[in-house]
Amino acid sequence: MNLESRSPGDTVSTSAAARVLRGVDELRAALAPARREGRAIGLVPTMGFLHEGHVSLLRAARAENDVVVMSLFVNPTQFGPNEDLDRYPRDEGRDLRLASEAGVDLVFAPDVPELYPDGAATAVEVTGNLTSVLDGDPQRRGSGHFRGVTTIVAKLFNIVGPDVAYFGQKDAQQAAVIKRMVRDLDFPLEVRVMPTVREDDGLAMSSRNVYLEPADRVRAVALSRAVATCEQQATARGSLDAGLAAARIELAAAAIDPEYLEARDAETLEPVEGLTGRPILVAVAAKVGGARLIDNVVINPHMGRAR
Ligand code: PAJ
Repeated sequence: MNLESRSPGDTVSTSAAARVLRGVDELRAALAPARREGRAIGLVPTMGFLHEGHVSLLRAARAENDVVVMSLFVNPTQFGPNEDLDRYPRDEGRDLRLASEAGVDLVFAPDVPELYPDGAATAVEVTGNLTSVLDGDPQRRGSGHFRGVTTIVAKLFNIVGPDVAYFGQKDAQQAAVIKRMVRDLDFPLEVRVMPTVREDDGLAMSSRNVYLEPADRVRAVALSRAVATCEQQATARGSLDAGLAAARIELAAAAIDPEYLEARDAETLEPVEGLTGRPILVAVAAKVGGARLIDNVVINPHMGRAR
């Protein structure tokens, strides 16, 4: 890795090994020269077990920045007591190889006490509607999940000081929450949200897809089919209700009883009654076998009704 010789758009796939750093001070020291020289720093936060969705963020960061930092940290504070923290899939060796291939310069992979030392008592929380609906509903993951996400992401922003930070549309609510945090707390950076990367049959890529038994893997495609059908029908028929009804049929056909299937304003996550002329997020979450999966689509008003 050579932090001095890269320029934005540099696509050379030298596969130079990314440098792995475990400590906050060590990472700051590694970034100091780039920062002094005013080089653009891109950050891609991850919990590892990388797939093509993560890699798409890494590639975007590589194309648009001088220095690319990927964080690899399974953040305990965003997991509920009955969630999968203990069995969350991990493969650091493979992650480092994929990160290196994607042109990542620095991988920040701290242990838990490095980021949450004894006595850590501070959290960052986006309050209100954004974090209390959909996954934030107390019956589901709850707002505490997003509190964990915003706390760790705020810490990573403070540690890395990126110019641009990359997130996936796959986790649409997470992206909306982080954008709000950045605005509200005046973080001096740009948030870029990249499209959802899917398997050939449409299933949104997720580290949690490894929990799917073969039969459930087949059923899981119903989530992407449901939101895609919703968009198609809502747009073609000019009726959000028609779209949602078609989506419910897709889910029922796969014997999937969703935790939610909801249409909301894509930015504020306020409920919508129909097509509002603003982008509308249609989001779904469901347990399929051993995996809790989410997916979504955004219905954009400019796409018109006549598709
Ligand atoms: P993780 O689930 O590892 O995801 C890291 C990033 O990859 C997130 O921004 C997520 O939205 C994006 N991503 C996941 N699947 C994707 C797909 N199929 N297509 C495009 N992007 C995808 O999200 C987290 O980790 C954590 O909450 C984190 C932000 C790292 C904070 O701990």
